[in-house]
Amino acid sequence: MTNSALSPERFYLTTPIYYVNARPHLGHAYSTIVCDAIARRKRALGIDTWFLTGTDEHGQKIERSARLAGRTPGEFATAIAAEFRGLWDGLSLSYNDFIRTTEDRHKRGVQHLFATLRDRGYIYKGSYTGQYCVSDELYVDGPPGTPCPDCGRITETVSEENYFFKLSAFERKLLEFYEANPGFMQPESTRREVISFVRGGLKDLSVSRTSFSWGIPVPGDEKHVVYVWLDALANYITALGYGSDDPADKARFARYWPADMHLIGKEISRFHCVYWPAFLMAAGIPLPRSVRANGWLLFDQGKMSKSRGNIVRAETVQQVLGADALRYFLLREIPFGQDGTFSFDALVQRYNGDLANGYGNLVSRVVNMVFKYFGGVVPPASGLTTAEVTLQASATRTIAAFGEAFDAMEFSDALKALWALVAETDGYLTANAPWKKPPERSEADHYQLQARVLATAAEAIRVITALVYPILPESAAKVWAQLGQGDITEAARNAFLTQIAWGGLQAGTKFMGPAPLFPRAEKDAVERMVAIEEQNNKSVIEAAGGAPVPEQPAPKAQPAAPQNSESTKKAEKKPMEETKPTPTPEPAAEPAAASVQAAPAAPTSTVAAPAAEAPAAAEAVAPAPVEEKQYITIDDFAKVELRVAQVLVAERIPKADKLLRLEVDLGYEKRQILAGIAQYYEPEKLIGRRIVIVANLAPRKMRGLESNGMLLAASLPPDGAPVLAGFLEDVPLGARLK
Ligand code: MSP
Repeated sequence: MTNSALSPERFYLTTPIYYVNARPHLGHAYSTIVCDAIARRKRALGIDTWFLTGTDEHGQKIERSARLAGRTPGEFATAIAAEFRGLWDGLSLSYNDFIRTTEDRHKRGVQHLFATLRDRGYIYKGSYTGQYCVSDELYVDGPPGTPCPDCGRITETVSEENYFFKLSAFERKLLEFYEANPGFMQPESTRREVISFVRGGLKDLSVSRTSFSWGIPVPGDEKHVVYVWLDALANYITALGYGSDDPADKARFARYWPADMHLIGKEISRFHCVYWPAFLMAAGIPLPRSVRANGWLLFDQGKMSKSRGNIVRAETVQQVLGADALRYFLLREIPFGQDGTFSFDALVQRYNGDLANGYGNLVSRVVNMVFKYFGGVVPPASGLTTAEVTLQASATRTIAAFGEAFDAMEFSDALKALWALVAETDGYLTANAPWKKPPERSEADHYQLQARVLATAAEAIRVITALVYPILPESAAKVWAQLGQGDITEAARNAFLTQIAWGGLQAGTKFMGPAPLFPRAEKDAVERMVAIEEQNNKSVIEAAGGAPVPEQPAPKAQPAAPQNSESTKKAEKKPMEETKPTPTPEPAAEPAAASVQAAPAAPTSTVAAPAAEAPAAAEAVAPAPVEEKQYITIDDFAKVELRVAQVLVAERIPKADKLLRLEVDLGYEKRQILAGIAQYYEPEKLIGRRIVIVANLAPRKMRGLESNGMLLAASLPPDGAPVLAGFLEDVPLGARLK
């Protein structure tokens, strides 16, 4: 077991590998950008850094998404993996390797790991009947109908012969390991949550599945595929060459493993802090040195996720304000480890305040004046006053404070300290006003003041730029070149951050012409980004050119998420237990299929009201009245005509924010239905989808439009979010459900 202090000479860090059932959004970009910033700083500090990212492509969830999209899982995964990779490249993220779990090198490594665990006596065959959450690919304790503790979706019952991993044998060893390595998991809330989970007792874990085939076959027993989390976690070693006999792979593995940091989202800490170390201990492989959990990016009050339909894409921000603006916002606005709200308004405010008017304006003032007064050549500074000495002392302090905060992953504090130096430099310039010559000052004195002030301010900018490079790589590169310092990437390769200290800007250095850095965002920037998102949503042909792939809408994200920015820095950090999704209140009856039709003014209707009209979860705390079960006869049921239909048209209804107008095809006729699902489904994504309707419901009018039927949907706790009923197999239009 290894967990010594961080290795000074090499650094291996990883992002989670992203599921390919959803296209990349800002939530994914967040983890990857954080890793990129860390990797850039480490490299610029002369540390041999290996930064891994990739995609998680196996499992039932992906298989189902592909099927819904009418694609093979392989085609489907390839298309979405290419989007992730394309986006990371578009954002110039400096990963060293991108692993796909469908690659041969990974399959080989996973099979090797599985065989090793079995050979060492940690895997045995048994059978499992229990609950499984396909969305989180998680085994869940409890009776049928139990919601997933992570996402709140209702679990499925699986009954299979499986291979089991002896997780129970690691309870004590894991607790000892956490005790001996207090820095292993952070933040503290994650640490507490994990320890209490392990103390609660560990059961053996099923590590194979037989009911579907999209996975890595268990070596020697190919009707089983390896459990997707064992498969996925292994990427961190297979990407380095684990399981390969090739000397280059062996050397890479020996060089970089154990990982210095797995950066993950907080909801997957159990997999990384319990299962992963246990697998590694069982296989006799050293453990990673640390796991760091980031909080969630929230948008419109919920965790940004495809299933909630509240995503923003990194490309949108990049297109309007540039990738650096996004990086700056994410790292400055959200104290790492906490949840943070993304909003276009806050983004534009930060951009204009800190980048356009702050750093950008400072650079352009100084560079312009060096050109105006000194022909673009840094003048010699002489006759230093206390003002220069003070600025120099601040810069020196900032170099230390920035590094300390950054290395402790307190990026927001690091940037705050750096921007204090930006403001101080600005103030220094204004106080000394090199552009203004008072009549009583001689030409010679004024020349000397201009030289001293501009050389000093330019030096402060050089220091600021070097420090901010990992966070604003594109802009820092431009400023570095303007300051006549050459190519910053080259400087980073030469470990320039090891020598960063006041006094590096030589008199006589030739500046390059001023270039725009952060043009001020105009009033319409927010509208432009919103419009791009809307346009994107319309034109998205989901899932690799196939049919739309709606996922189940998730319940509302945890409400206790601390807000980002200054105010939350002061807010007490909440333990993770408190910020986990609120346990779903037990529904009065088993969550059953619910019919979804707008129920405008008819609360007494037997039809389940659309989620928005359902009582809020928080209100549903009173115990449900015990009702005597009312049975219906088969004849009663036969009166309900349930049929398969296909959505031809789906559109919003003006001034009715909960209603969609659908035109559906029953094969034998087309009809119009109004459904109260507008808050959960984008109309565009419904087109082409096969659904189930109640075909013999009496017509009724709403908003002047006639509705001829009702959609069937499951109603998910806590707020009754609808999930439309559908079929995995092909079913003809008009087919009756009995
Ligand atoms: N495939 C697994 C990880 C396997 S790692 C061996 C998985 N994939 S995921 O695509 O669902 O999530 C990947 C990462 O993206 C997680 O760390 C998750 O927290 C992060 N995010 C997805 N949406 C997010 C936000 N809205 N905000 C911040 N991060 C979020 O889990």
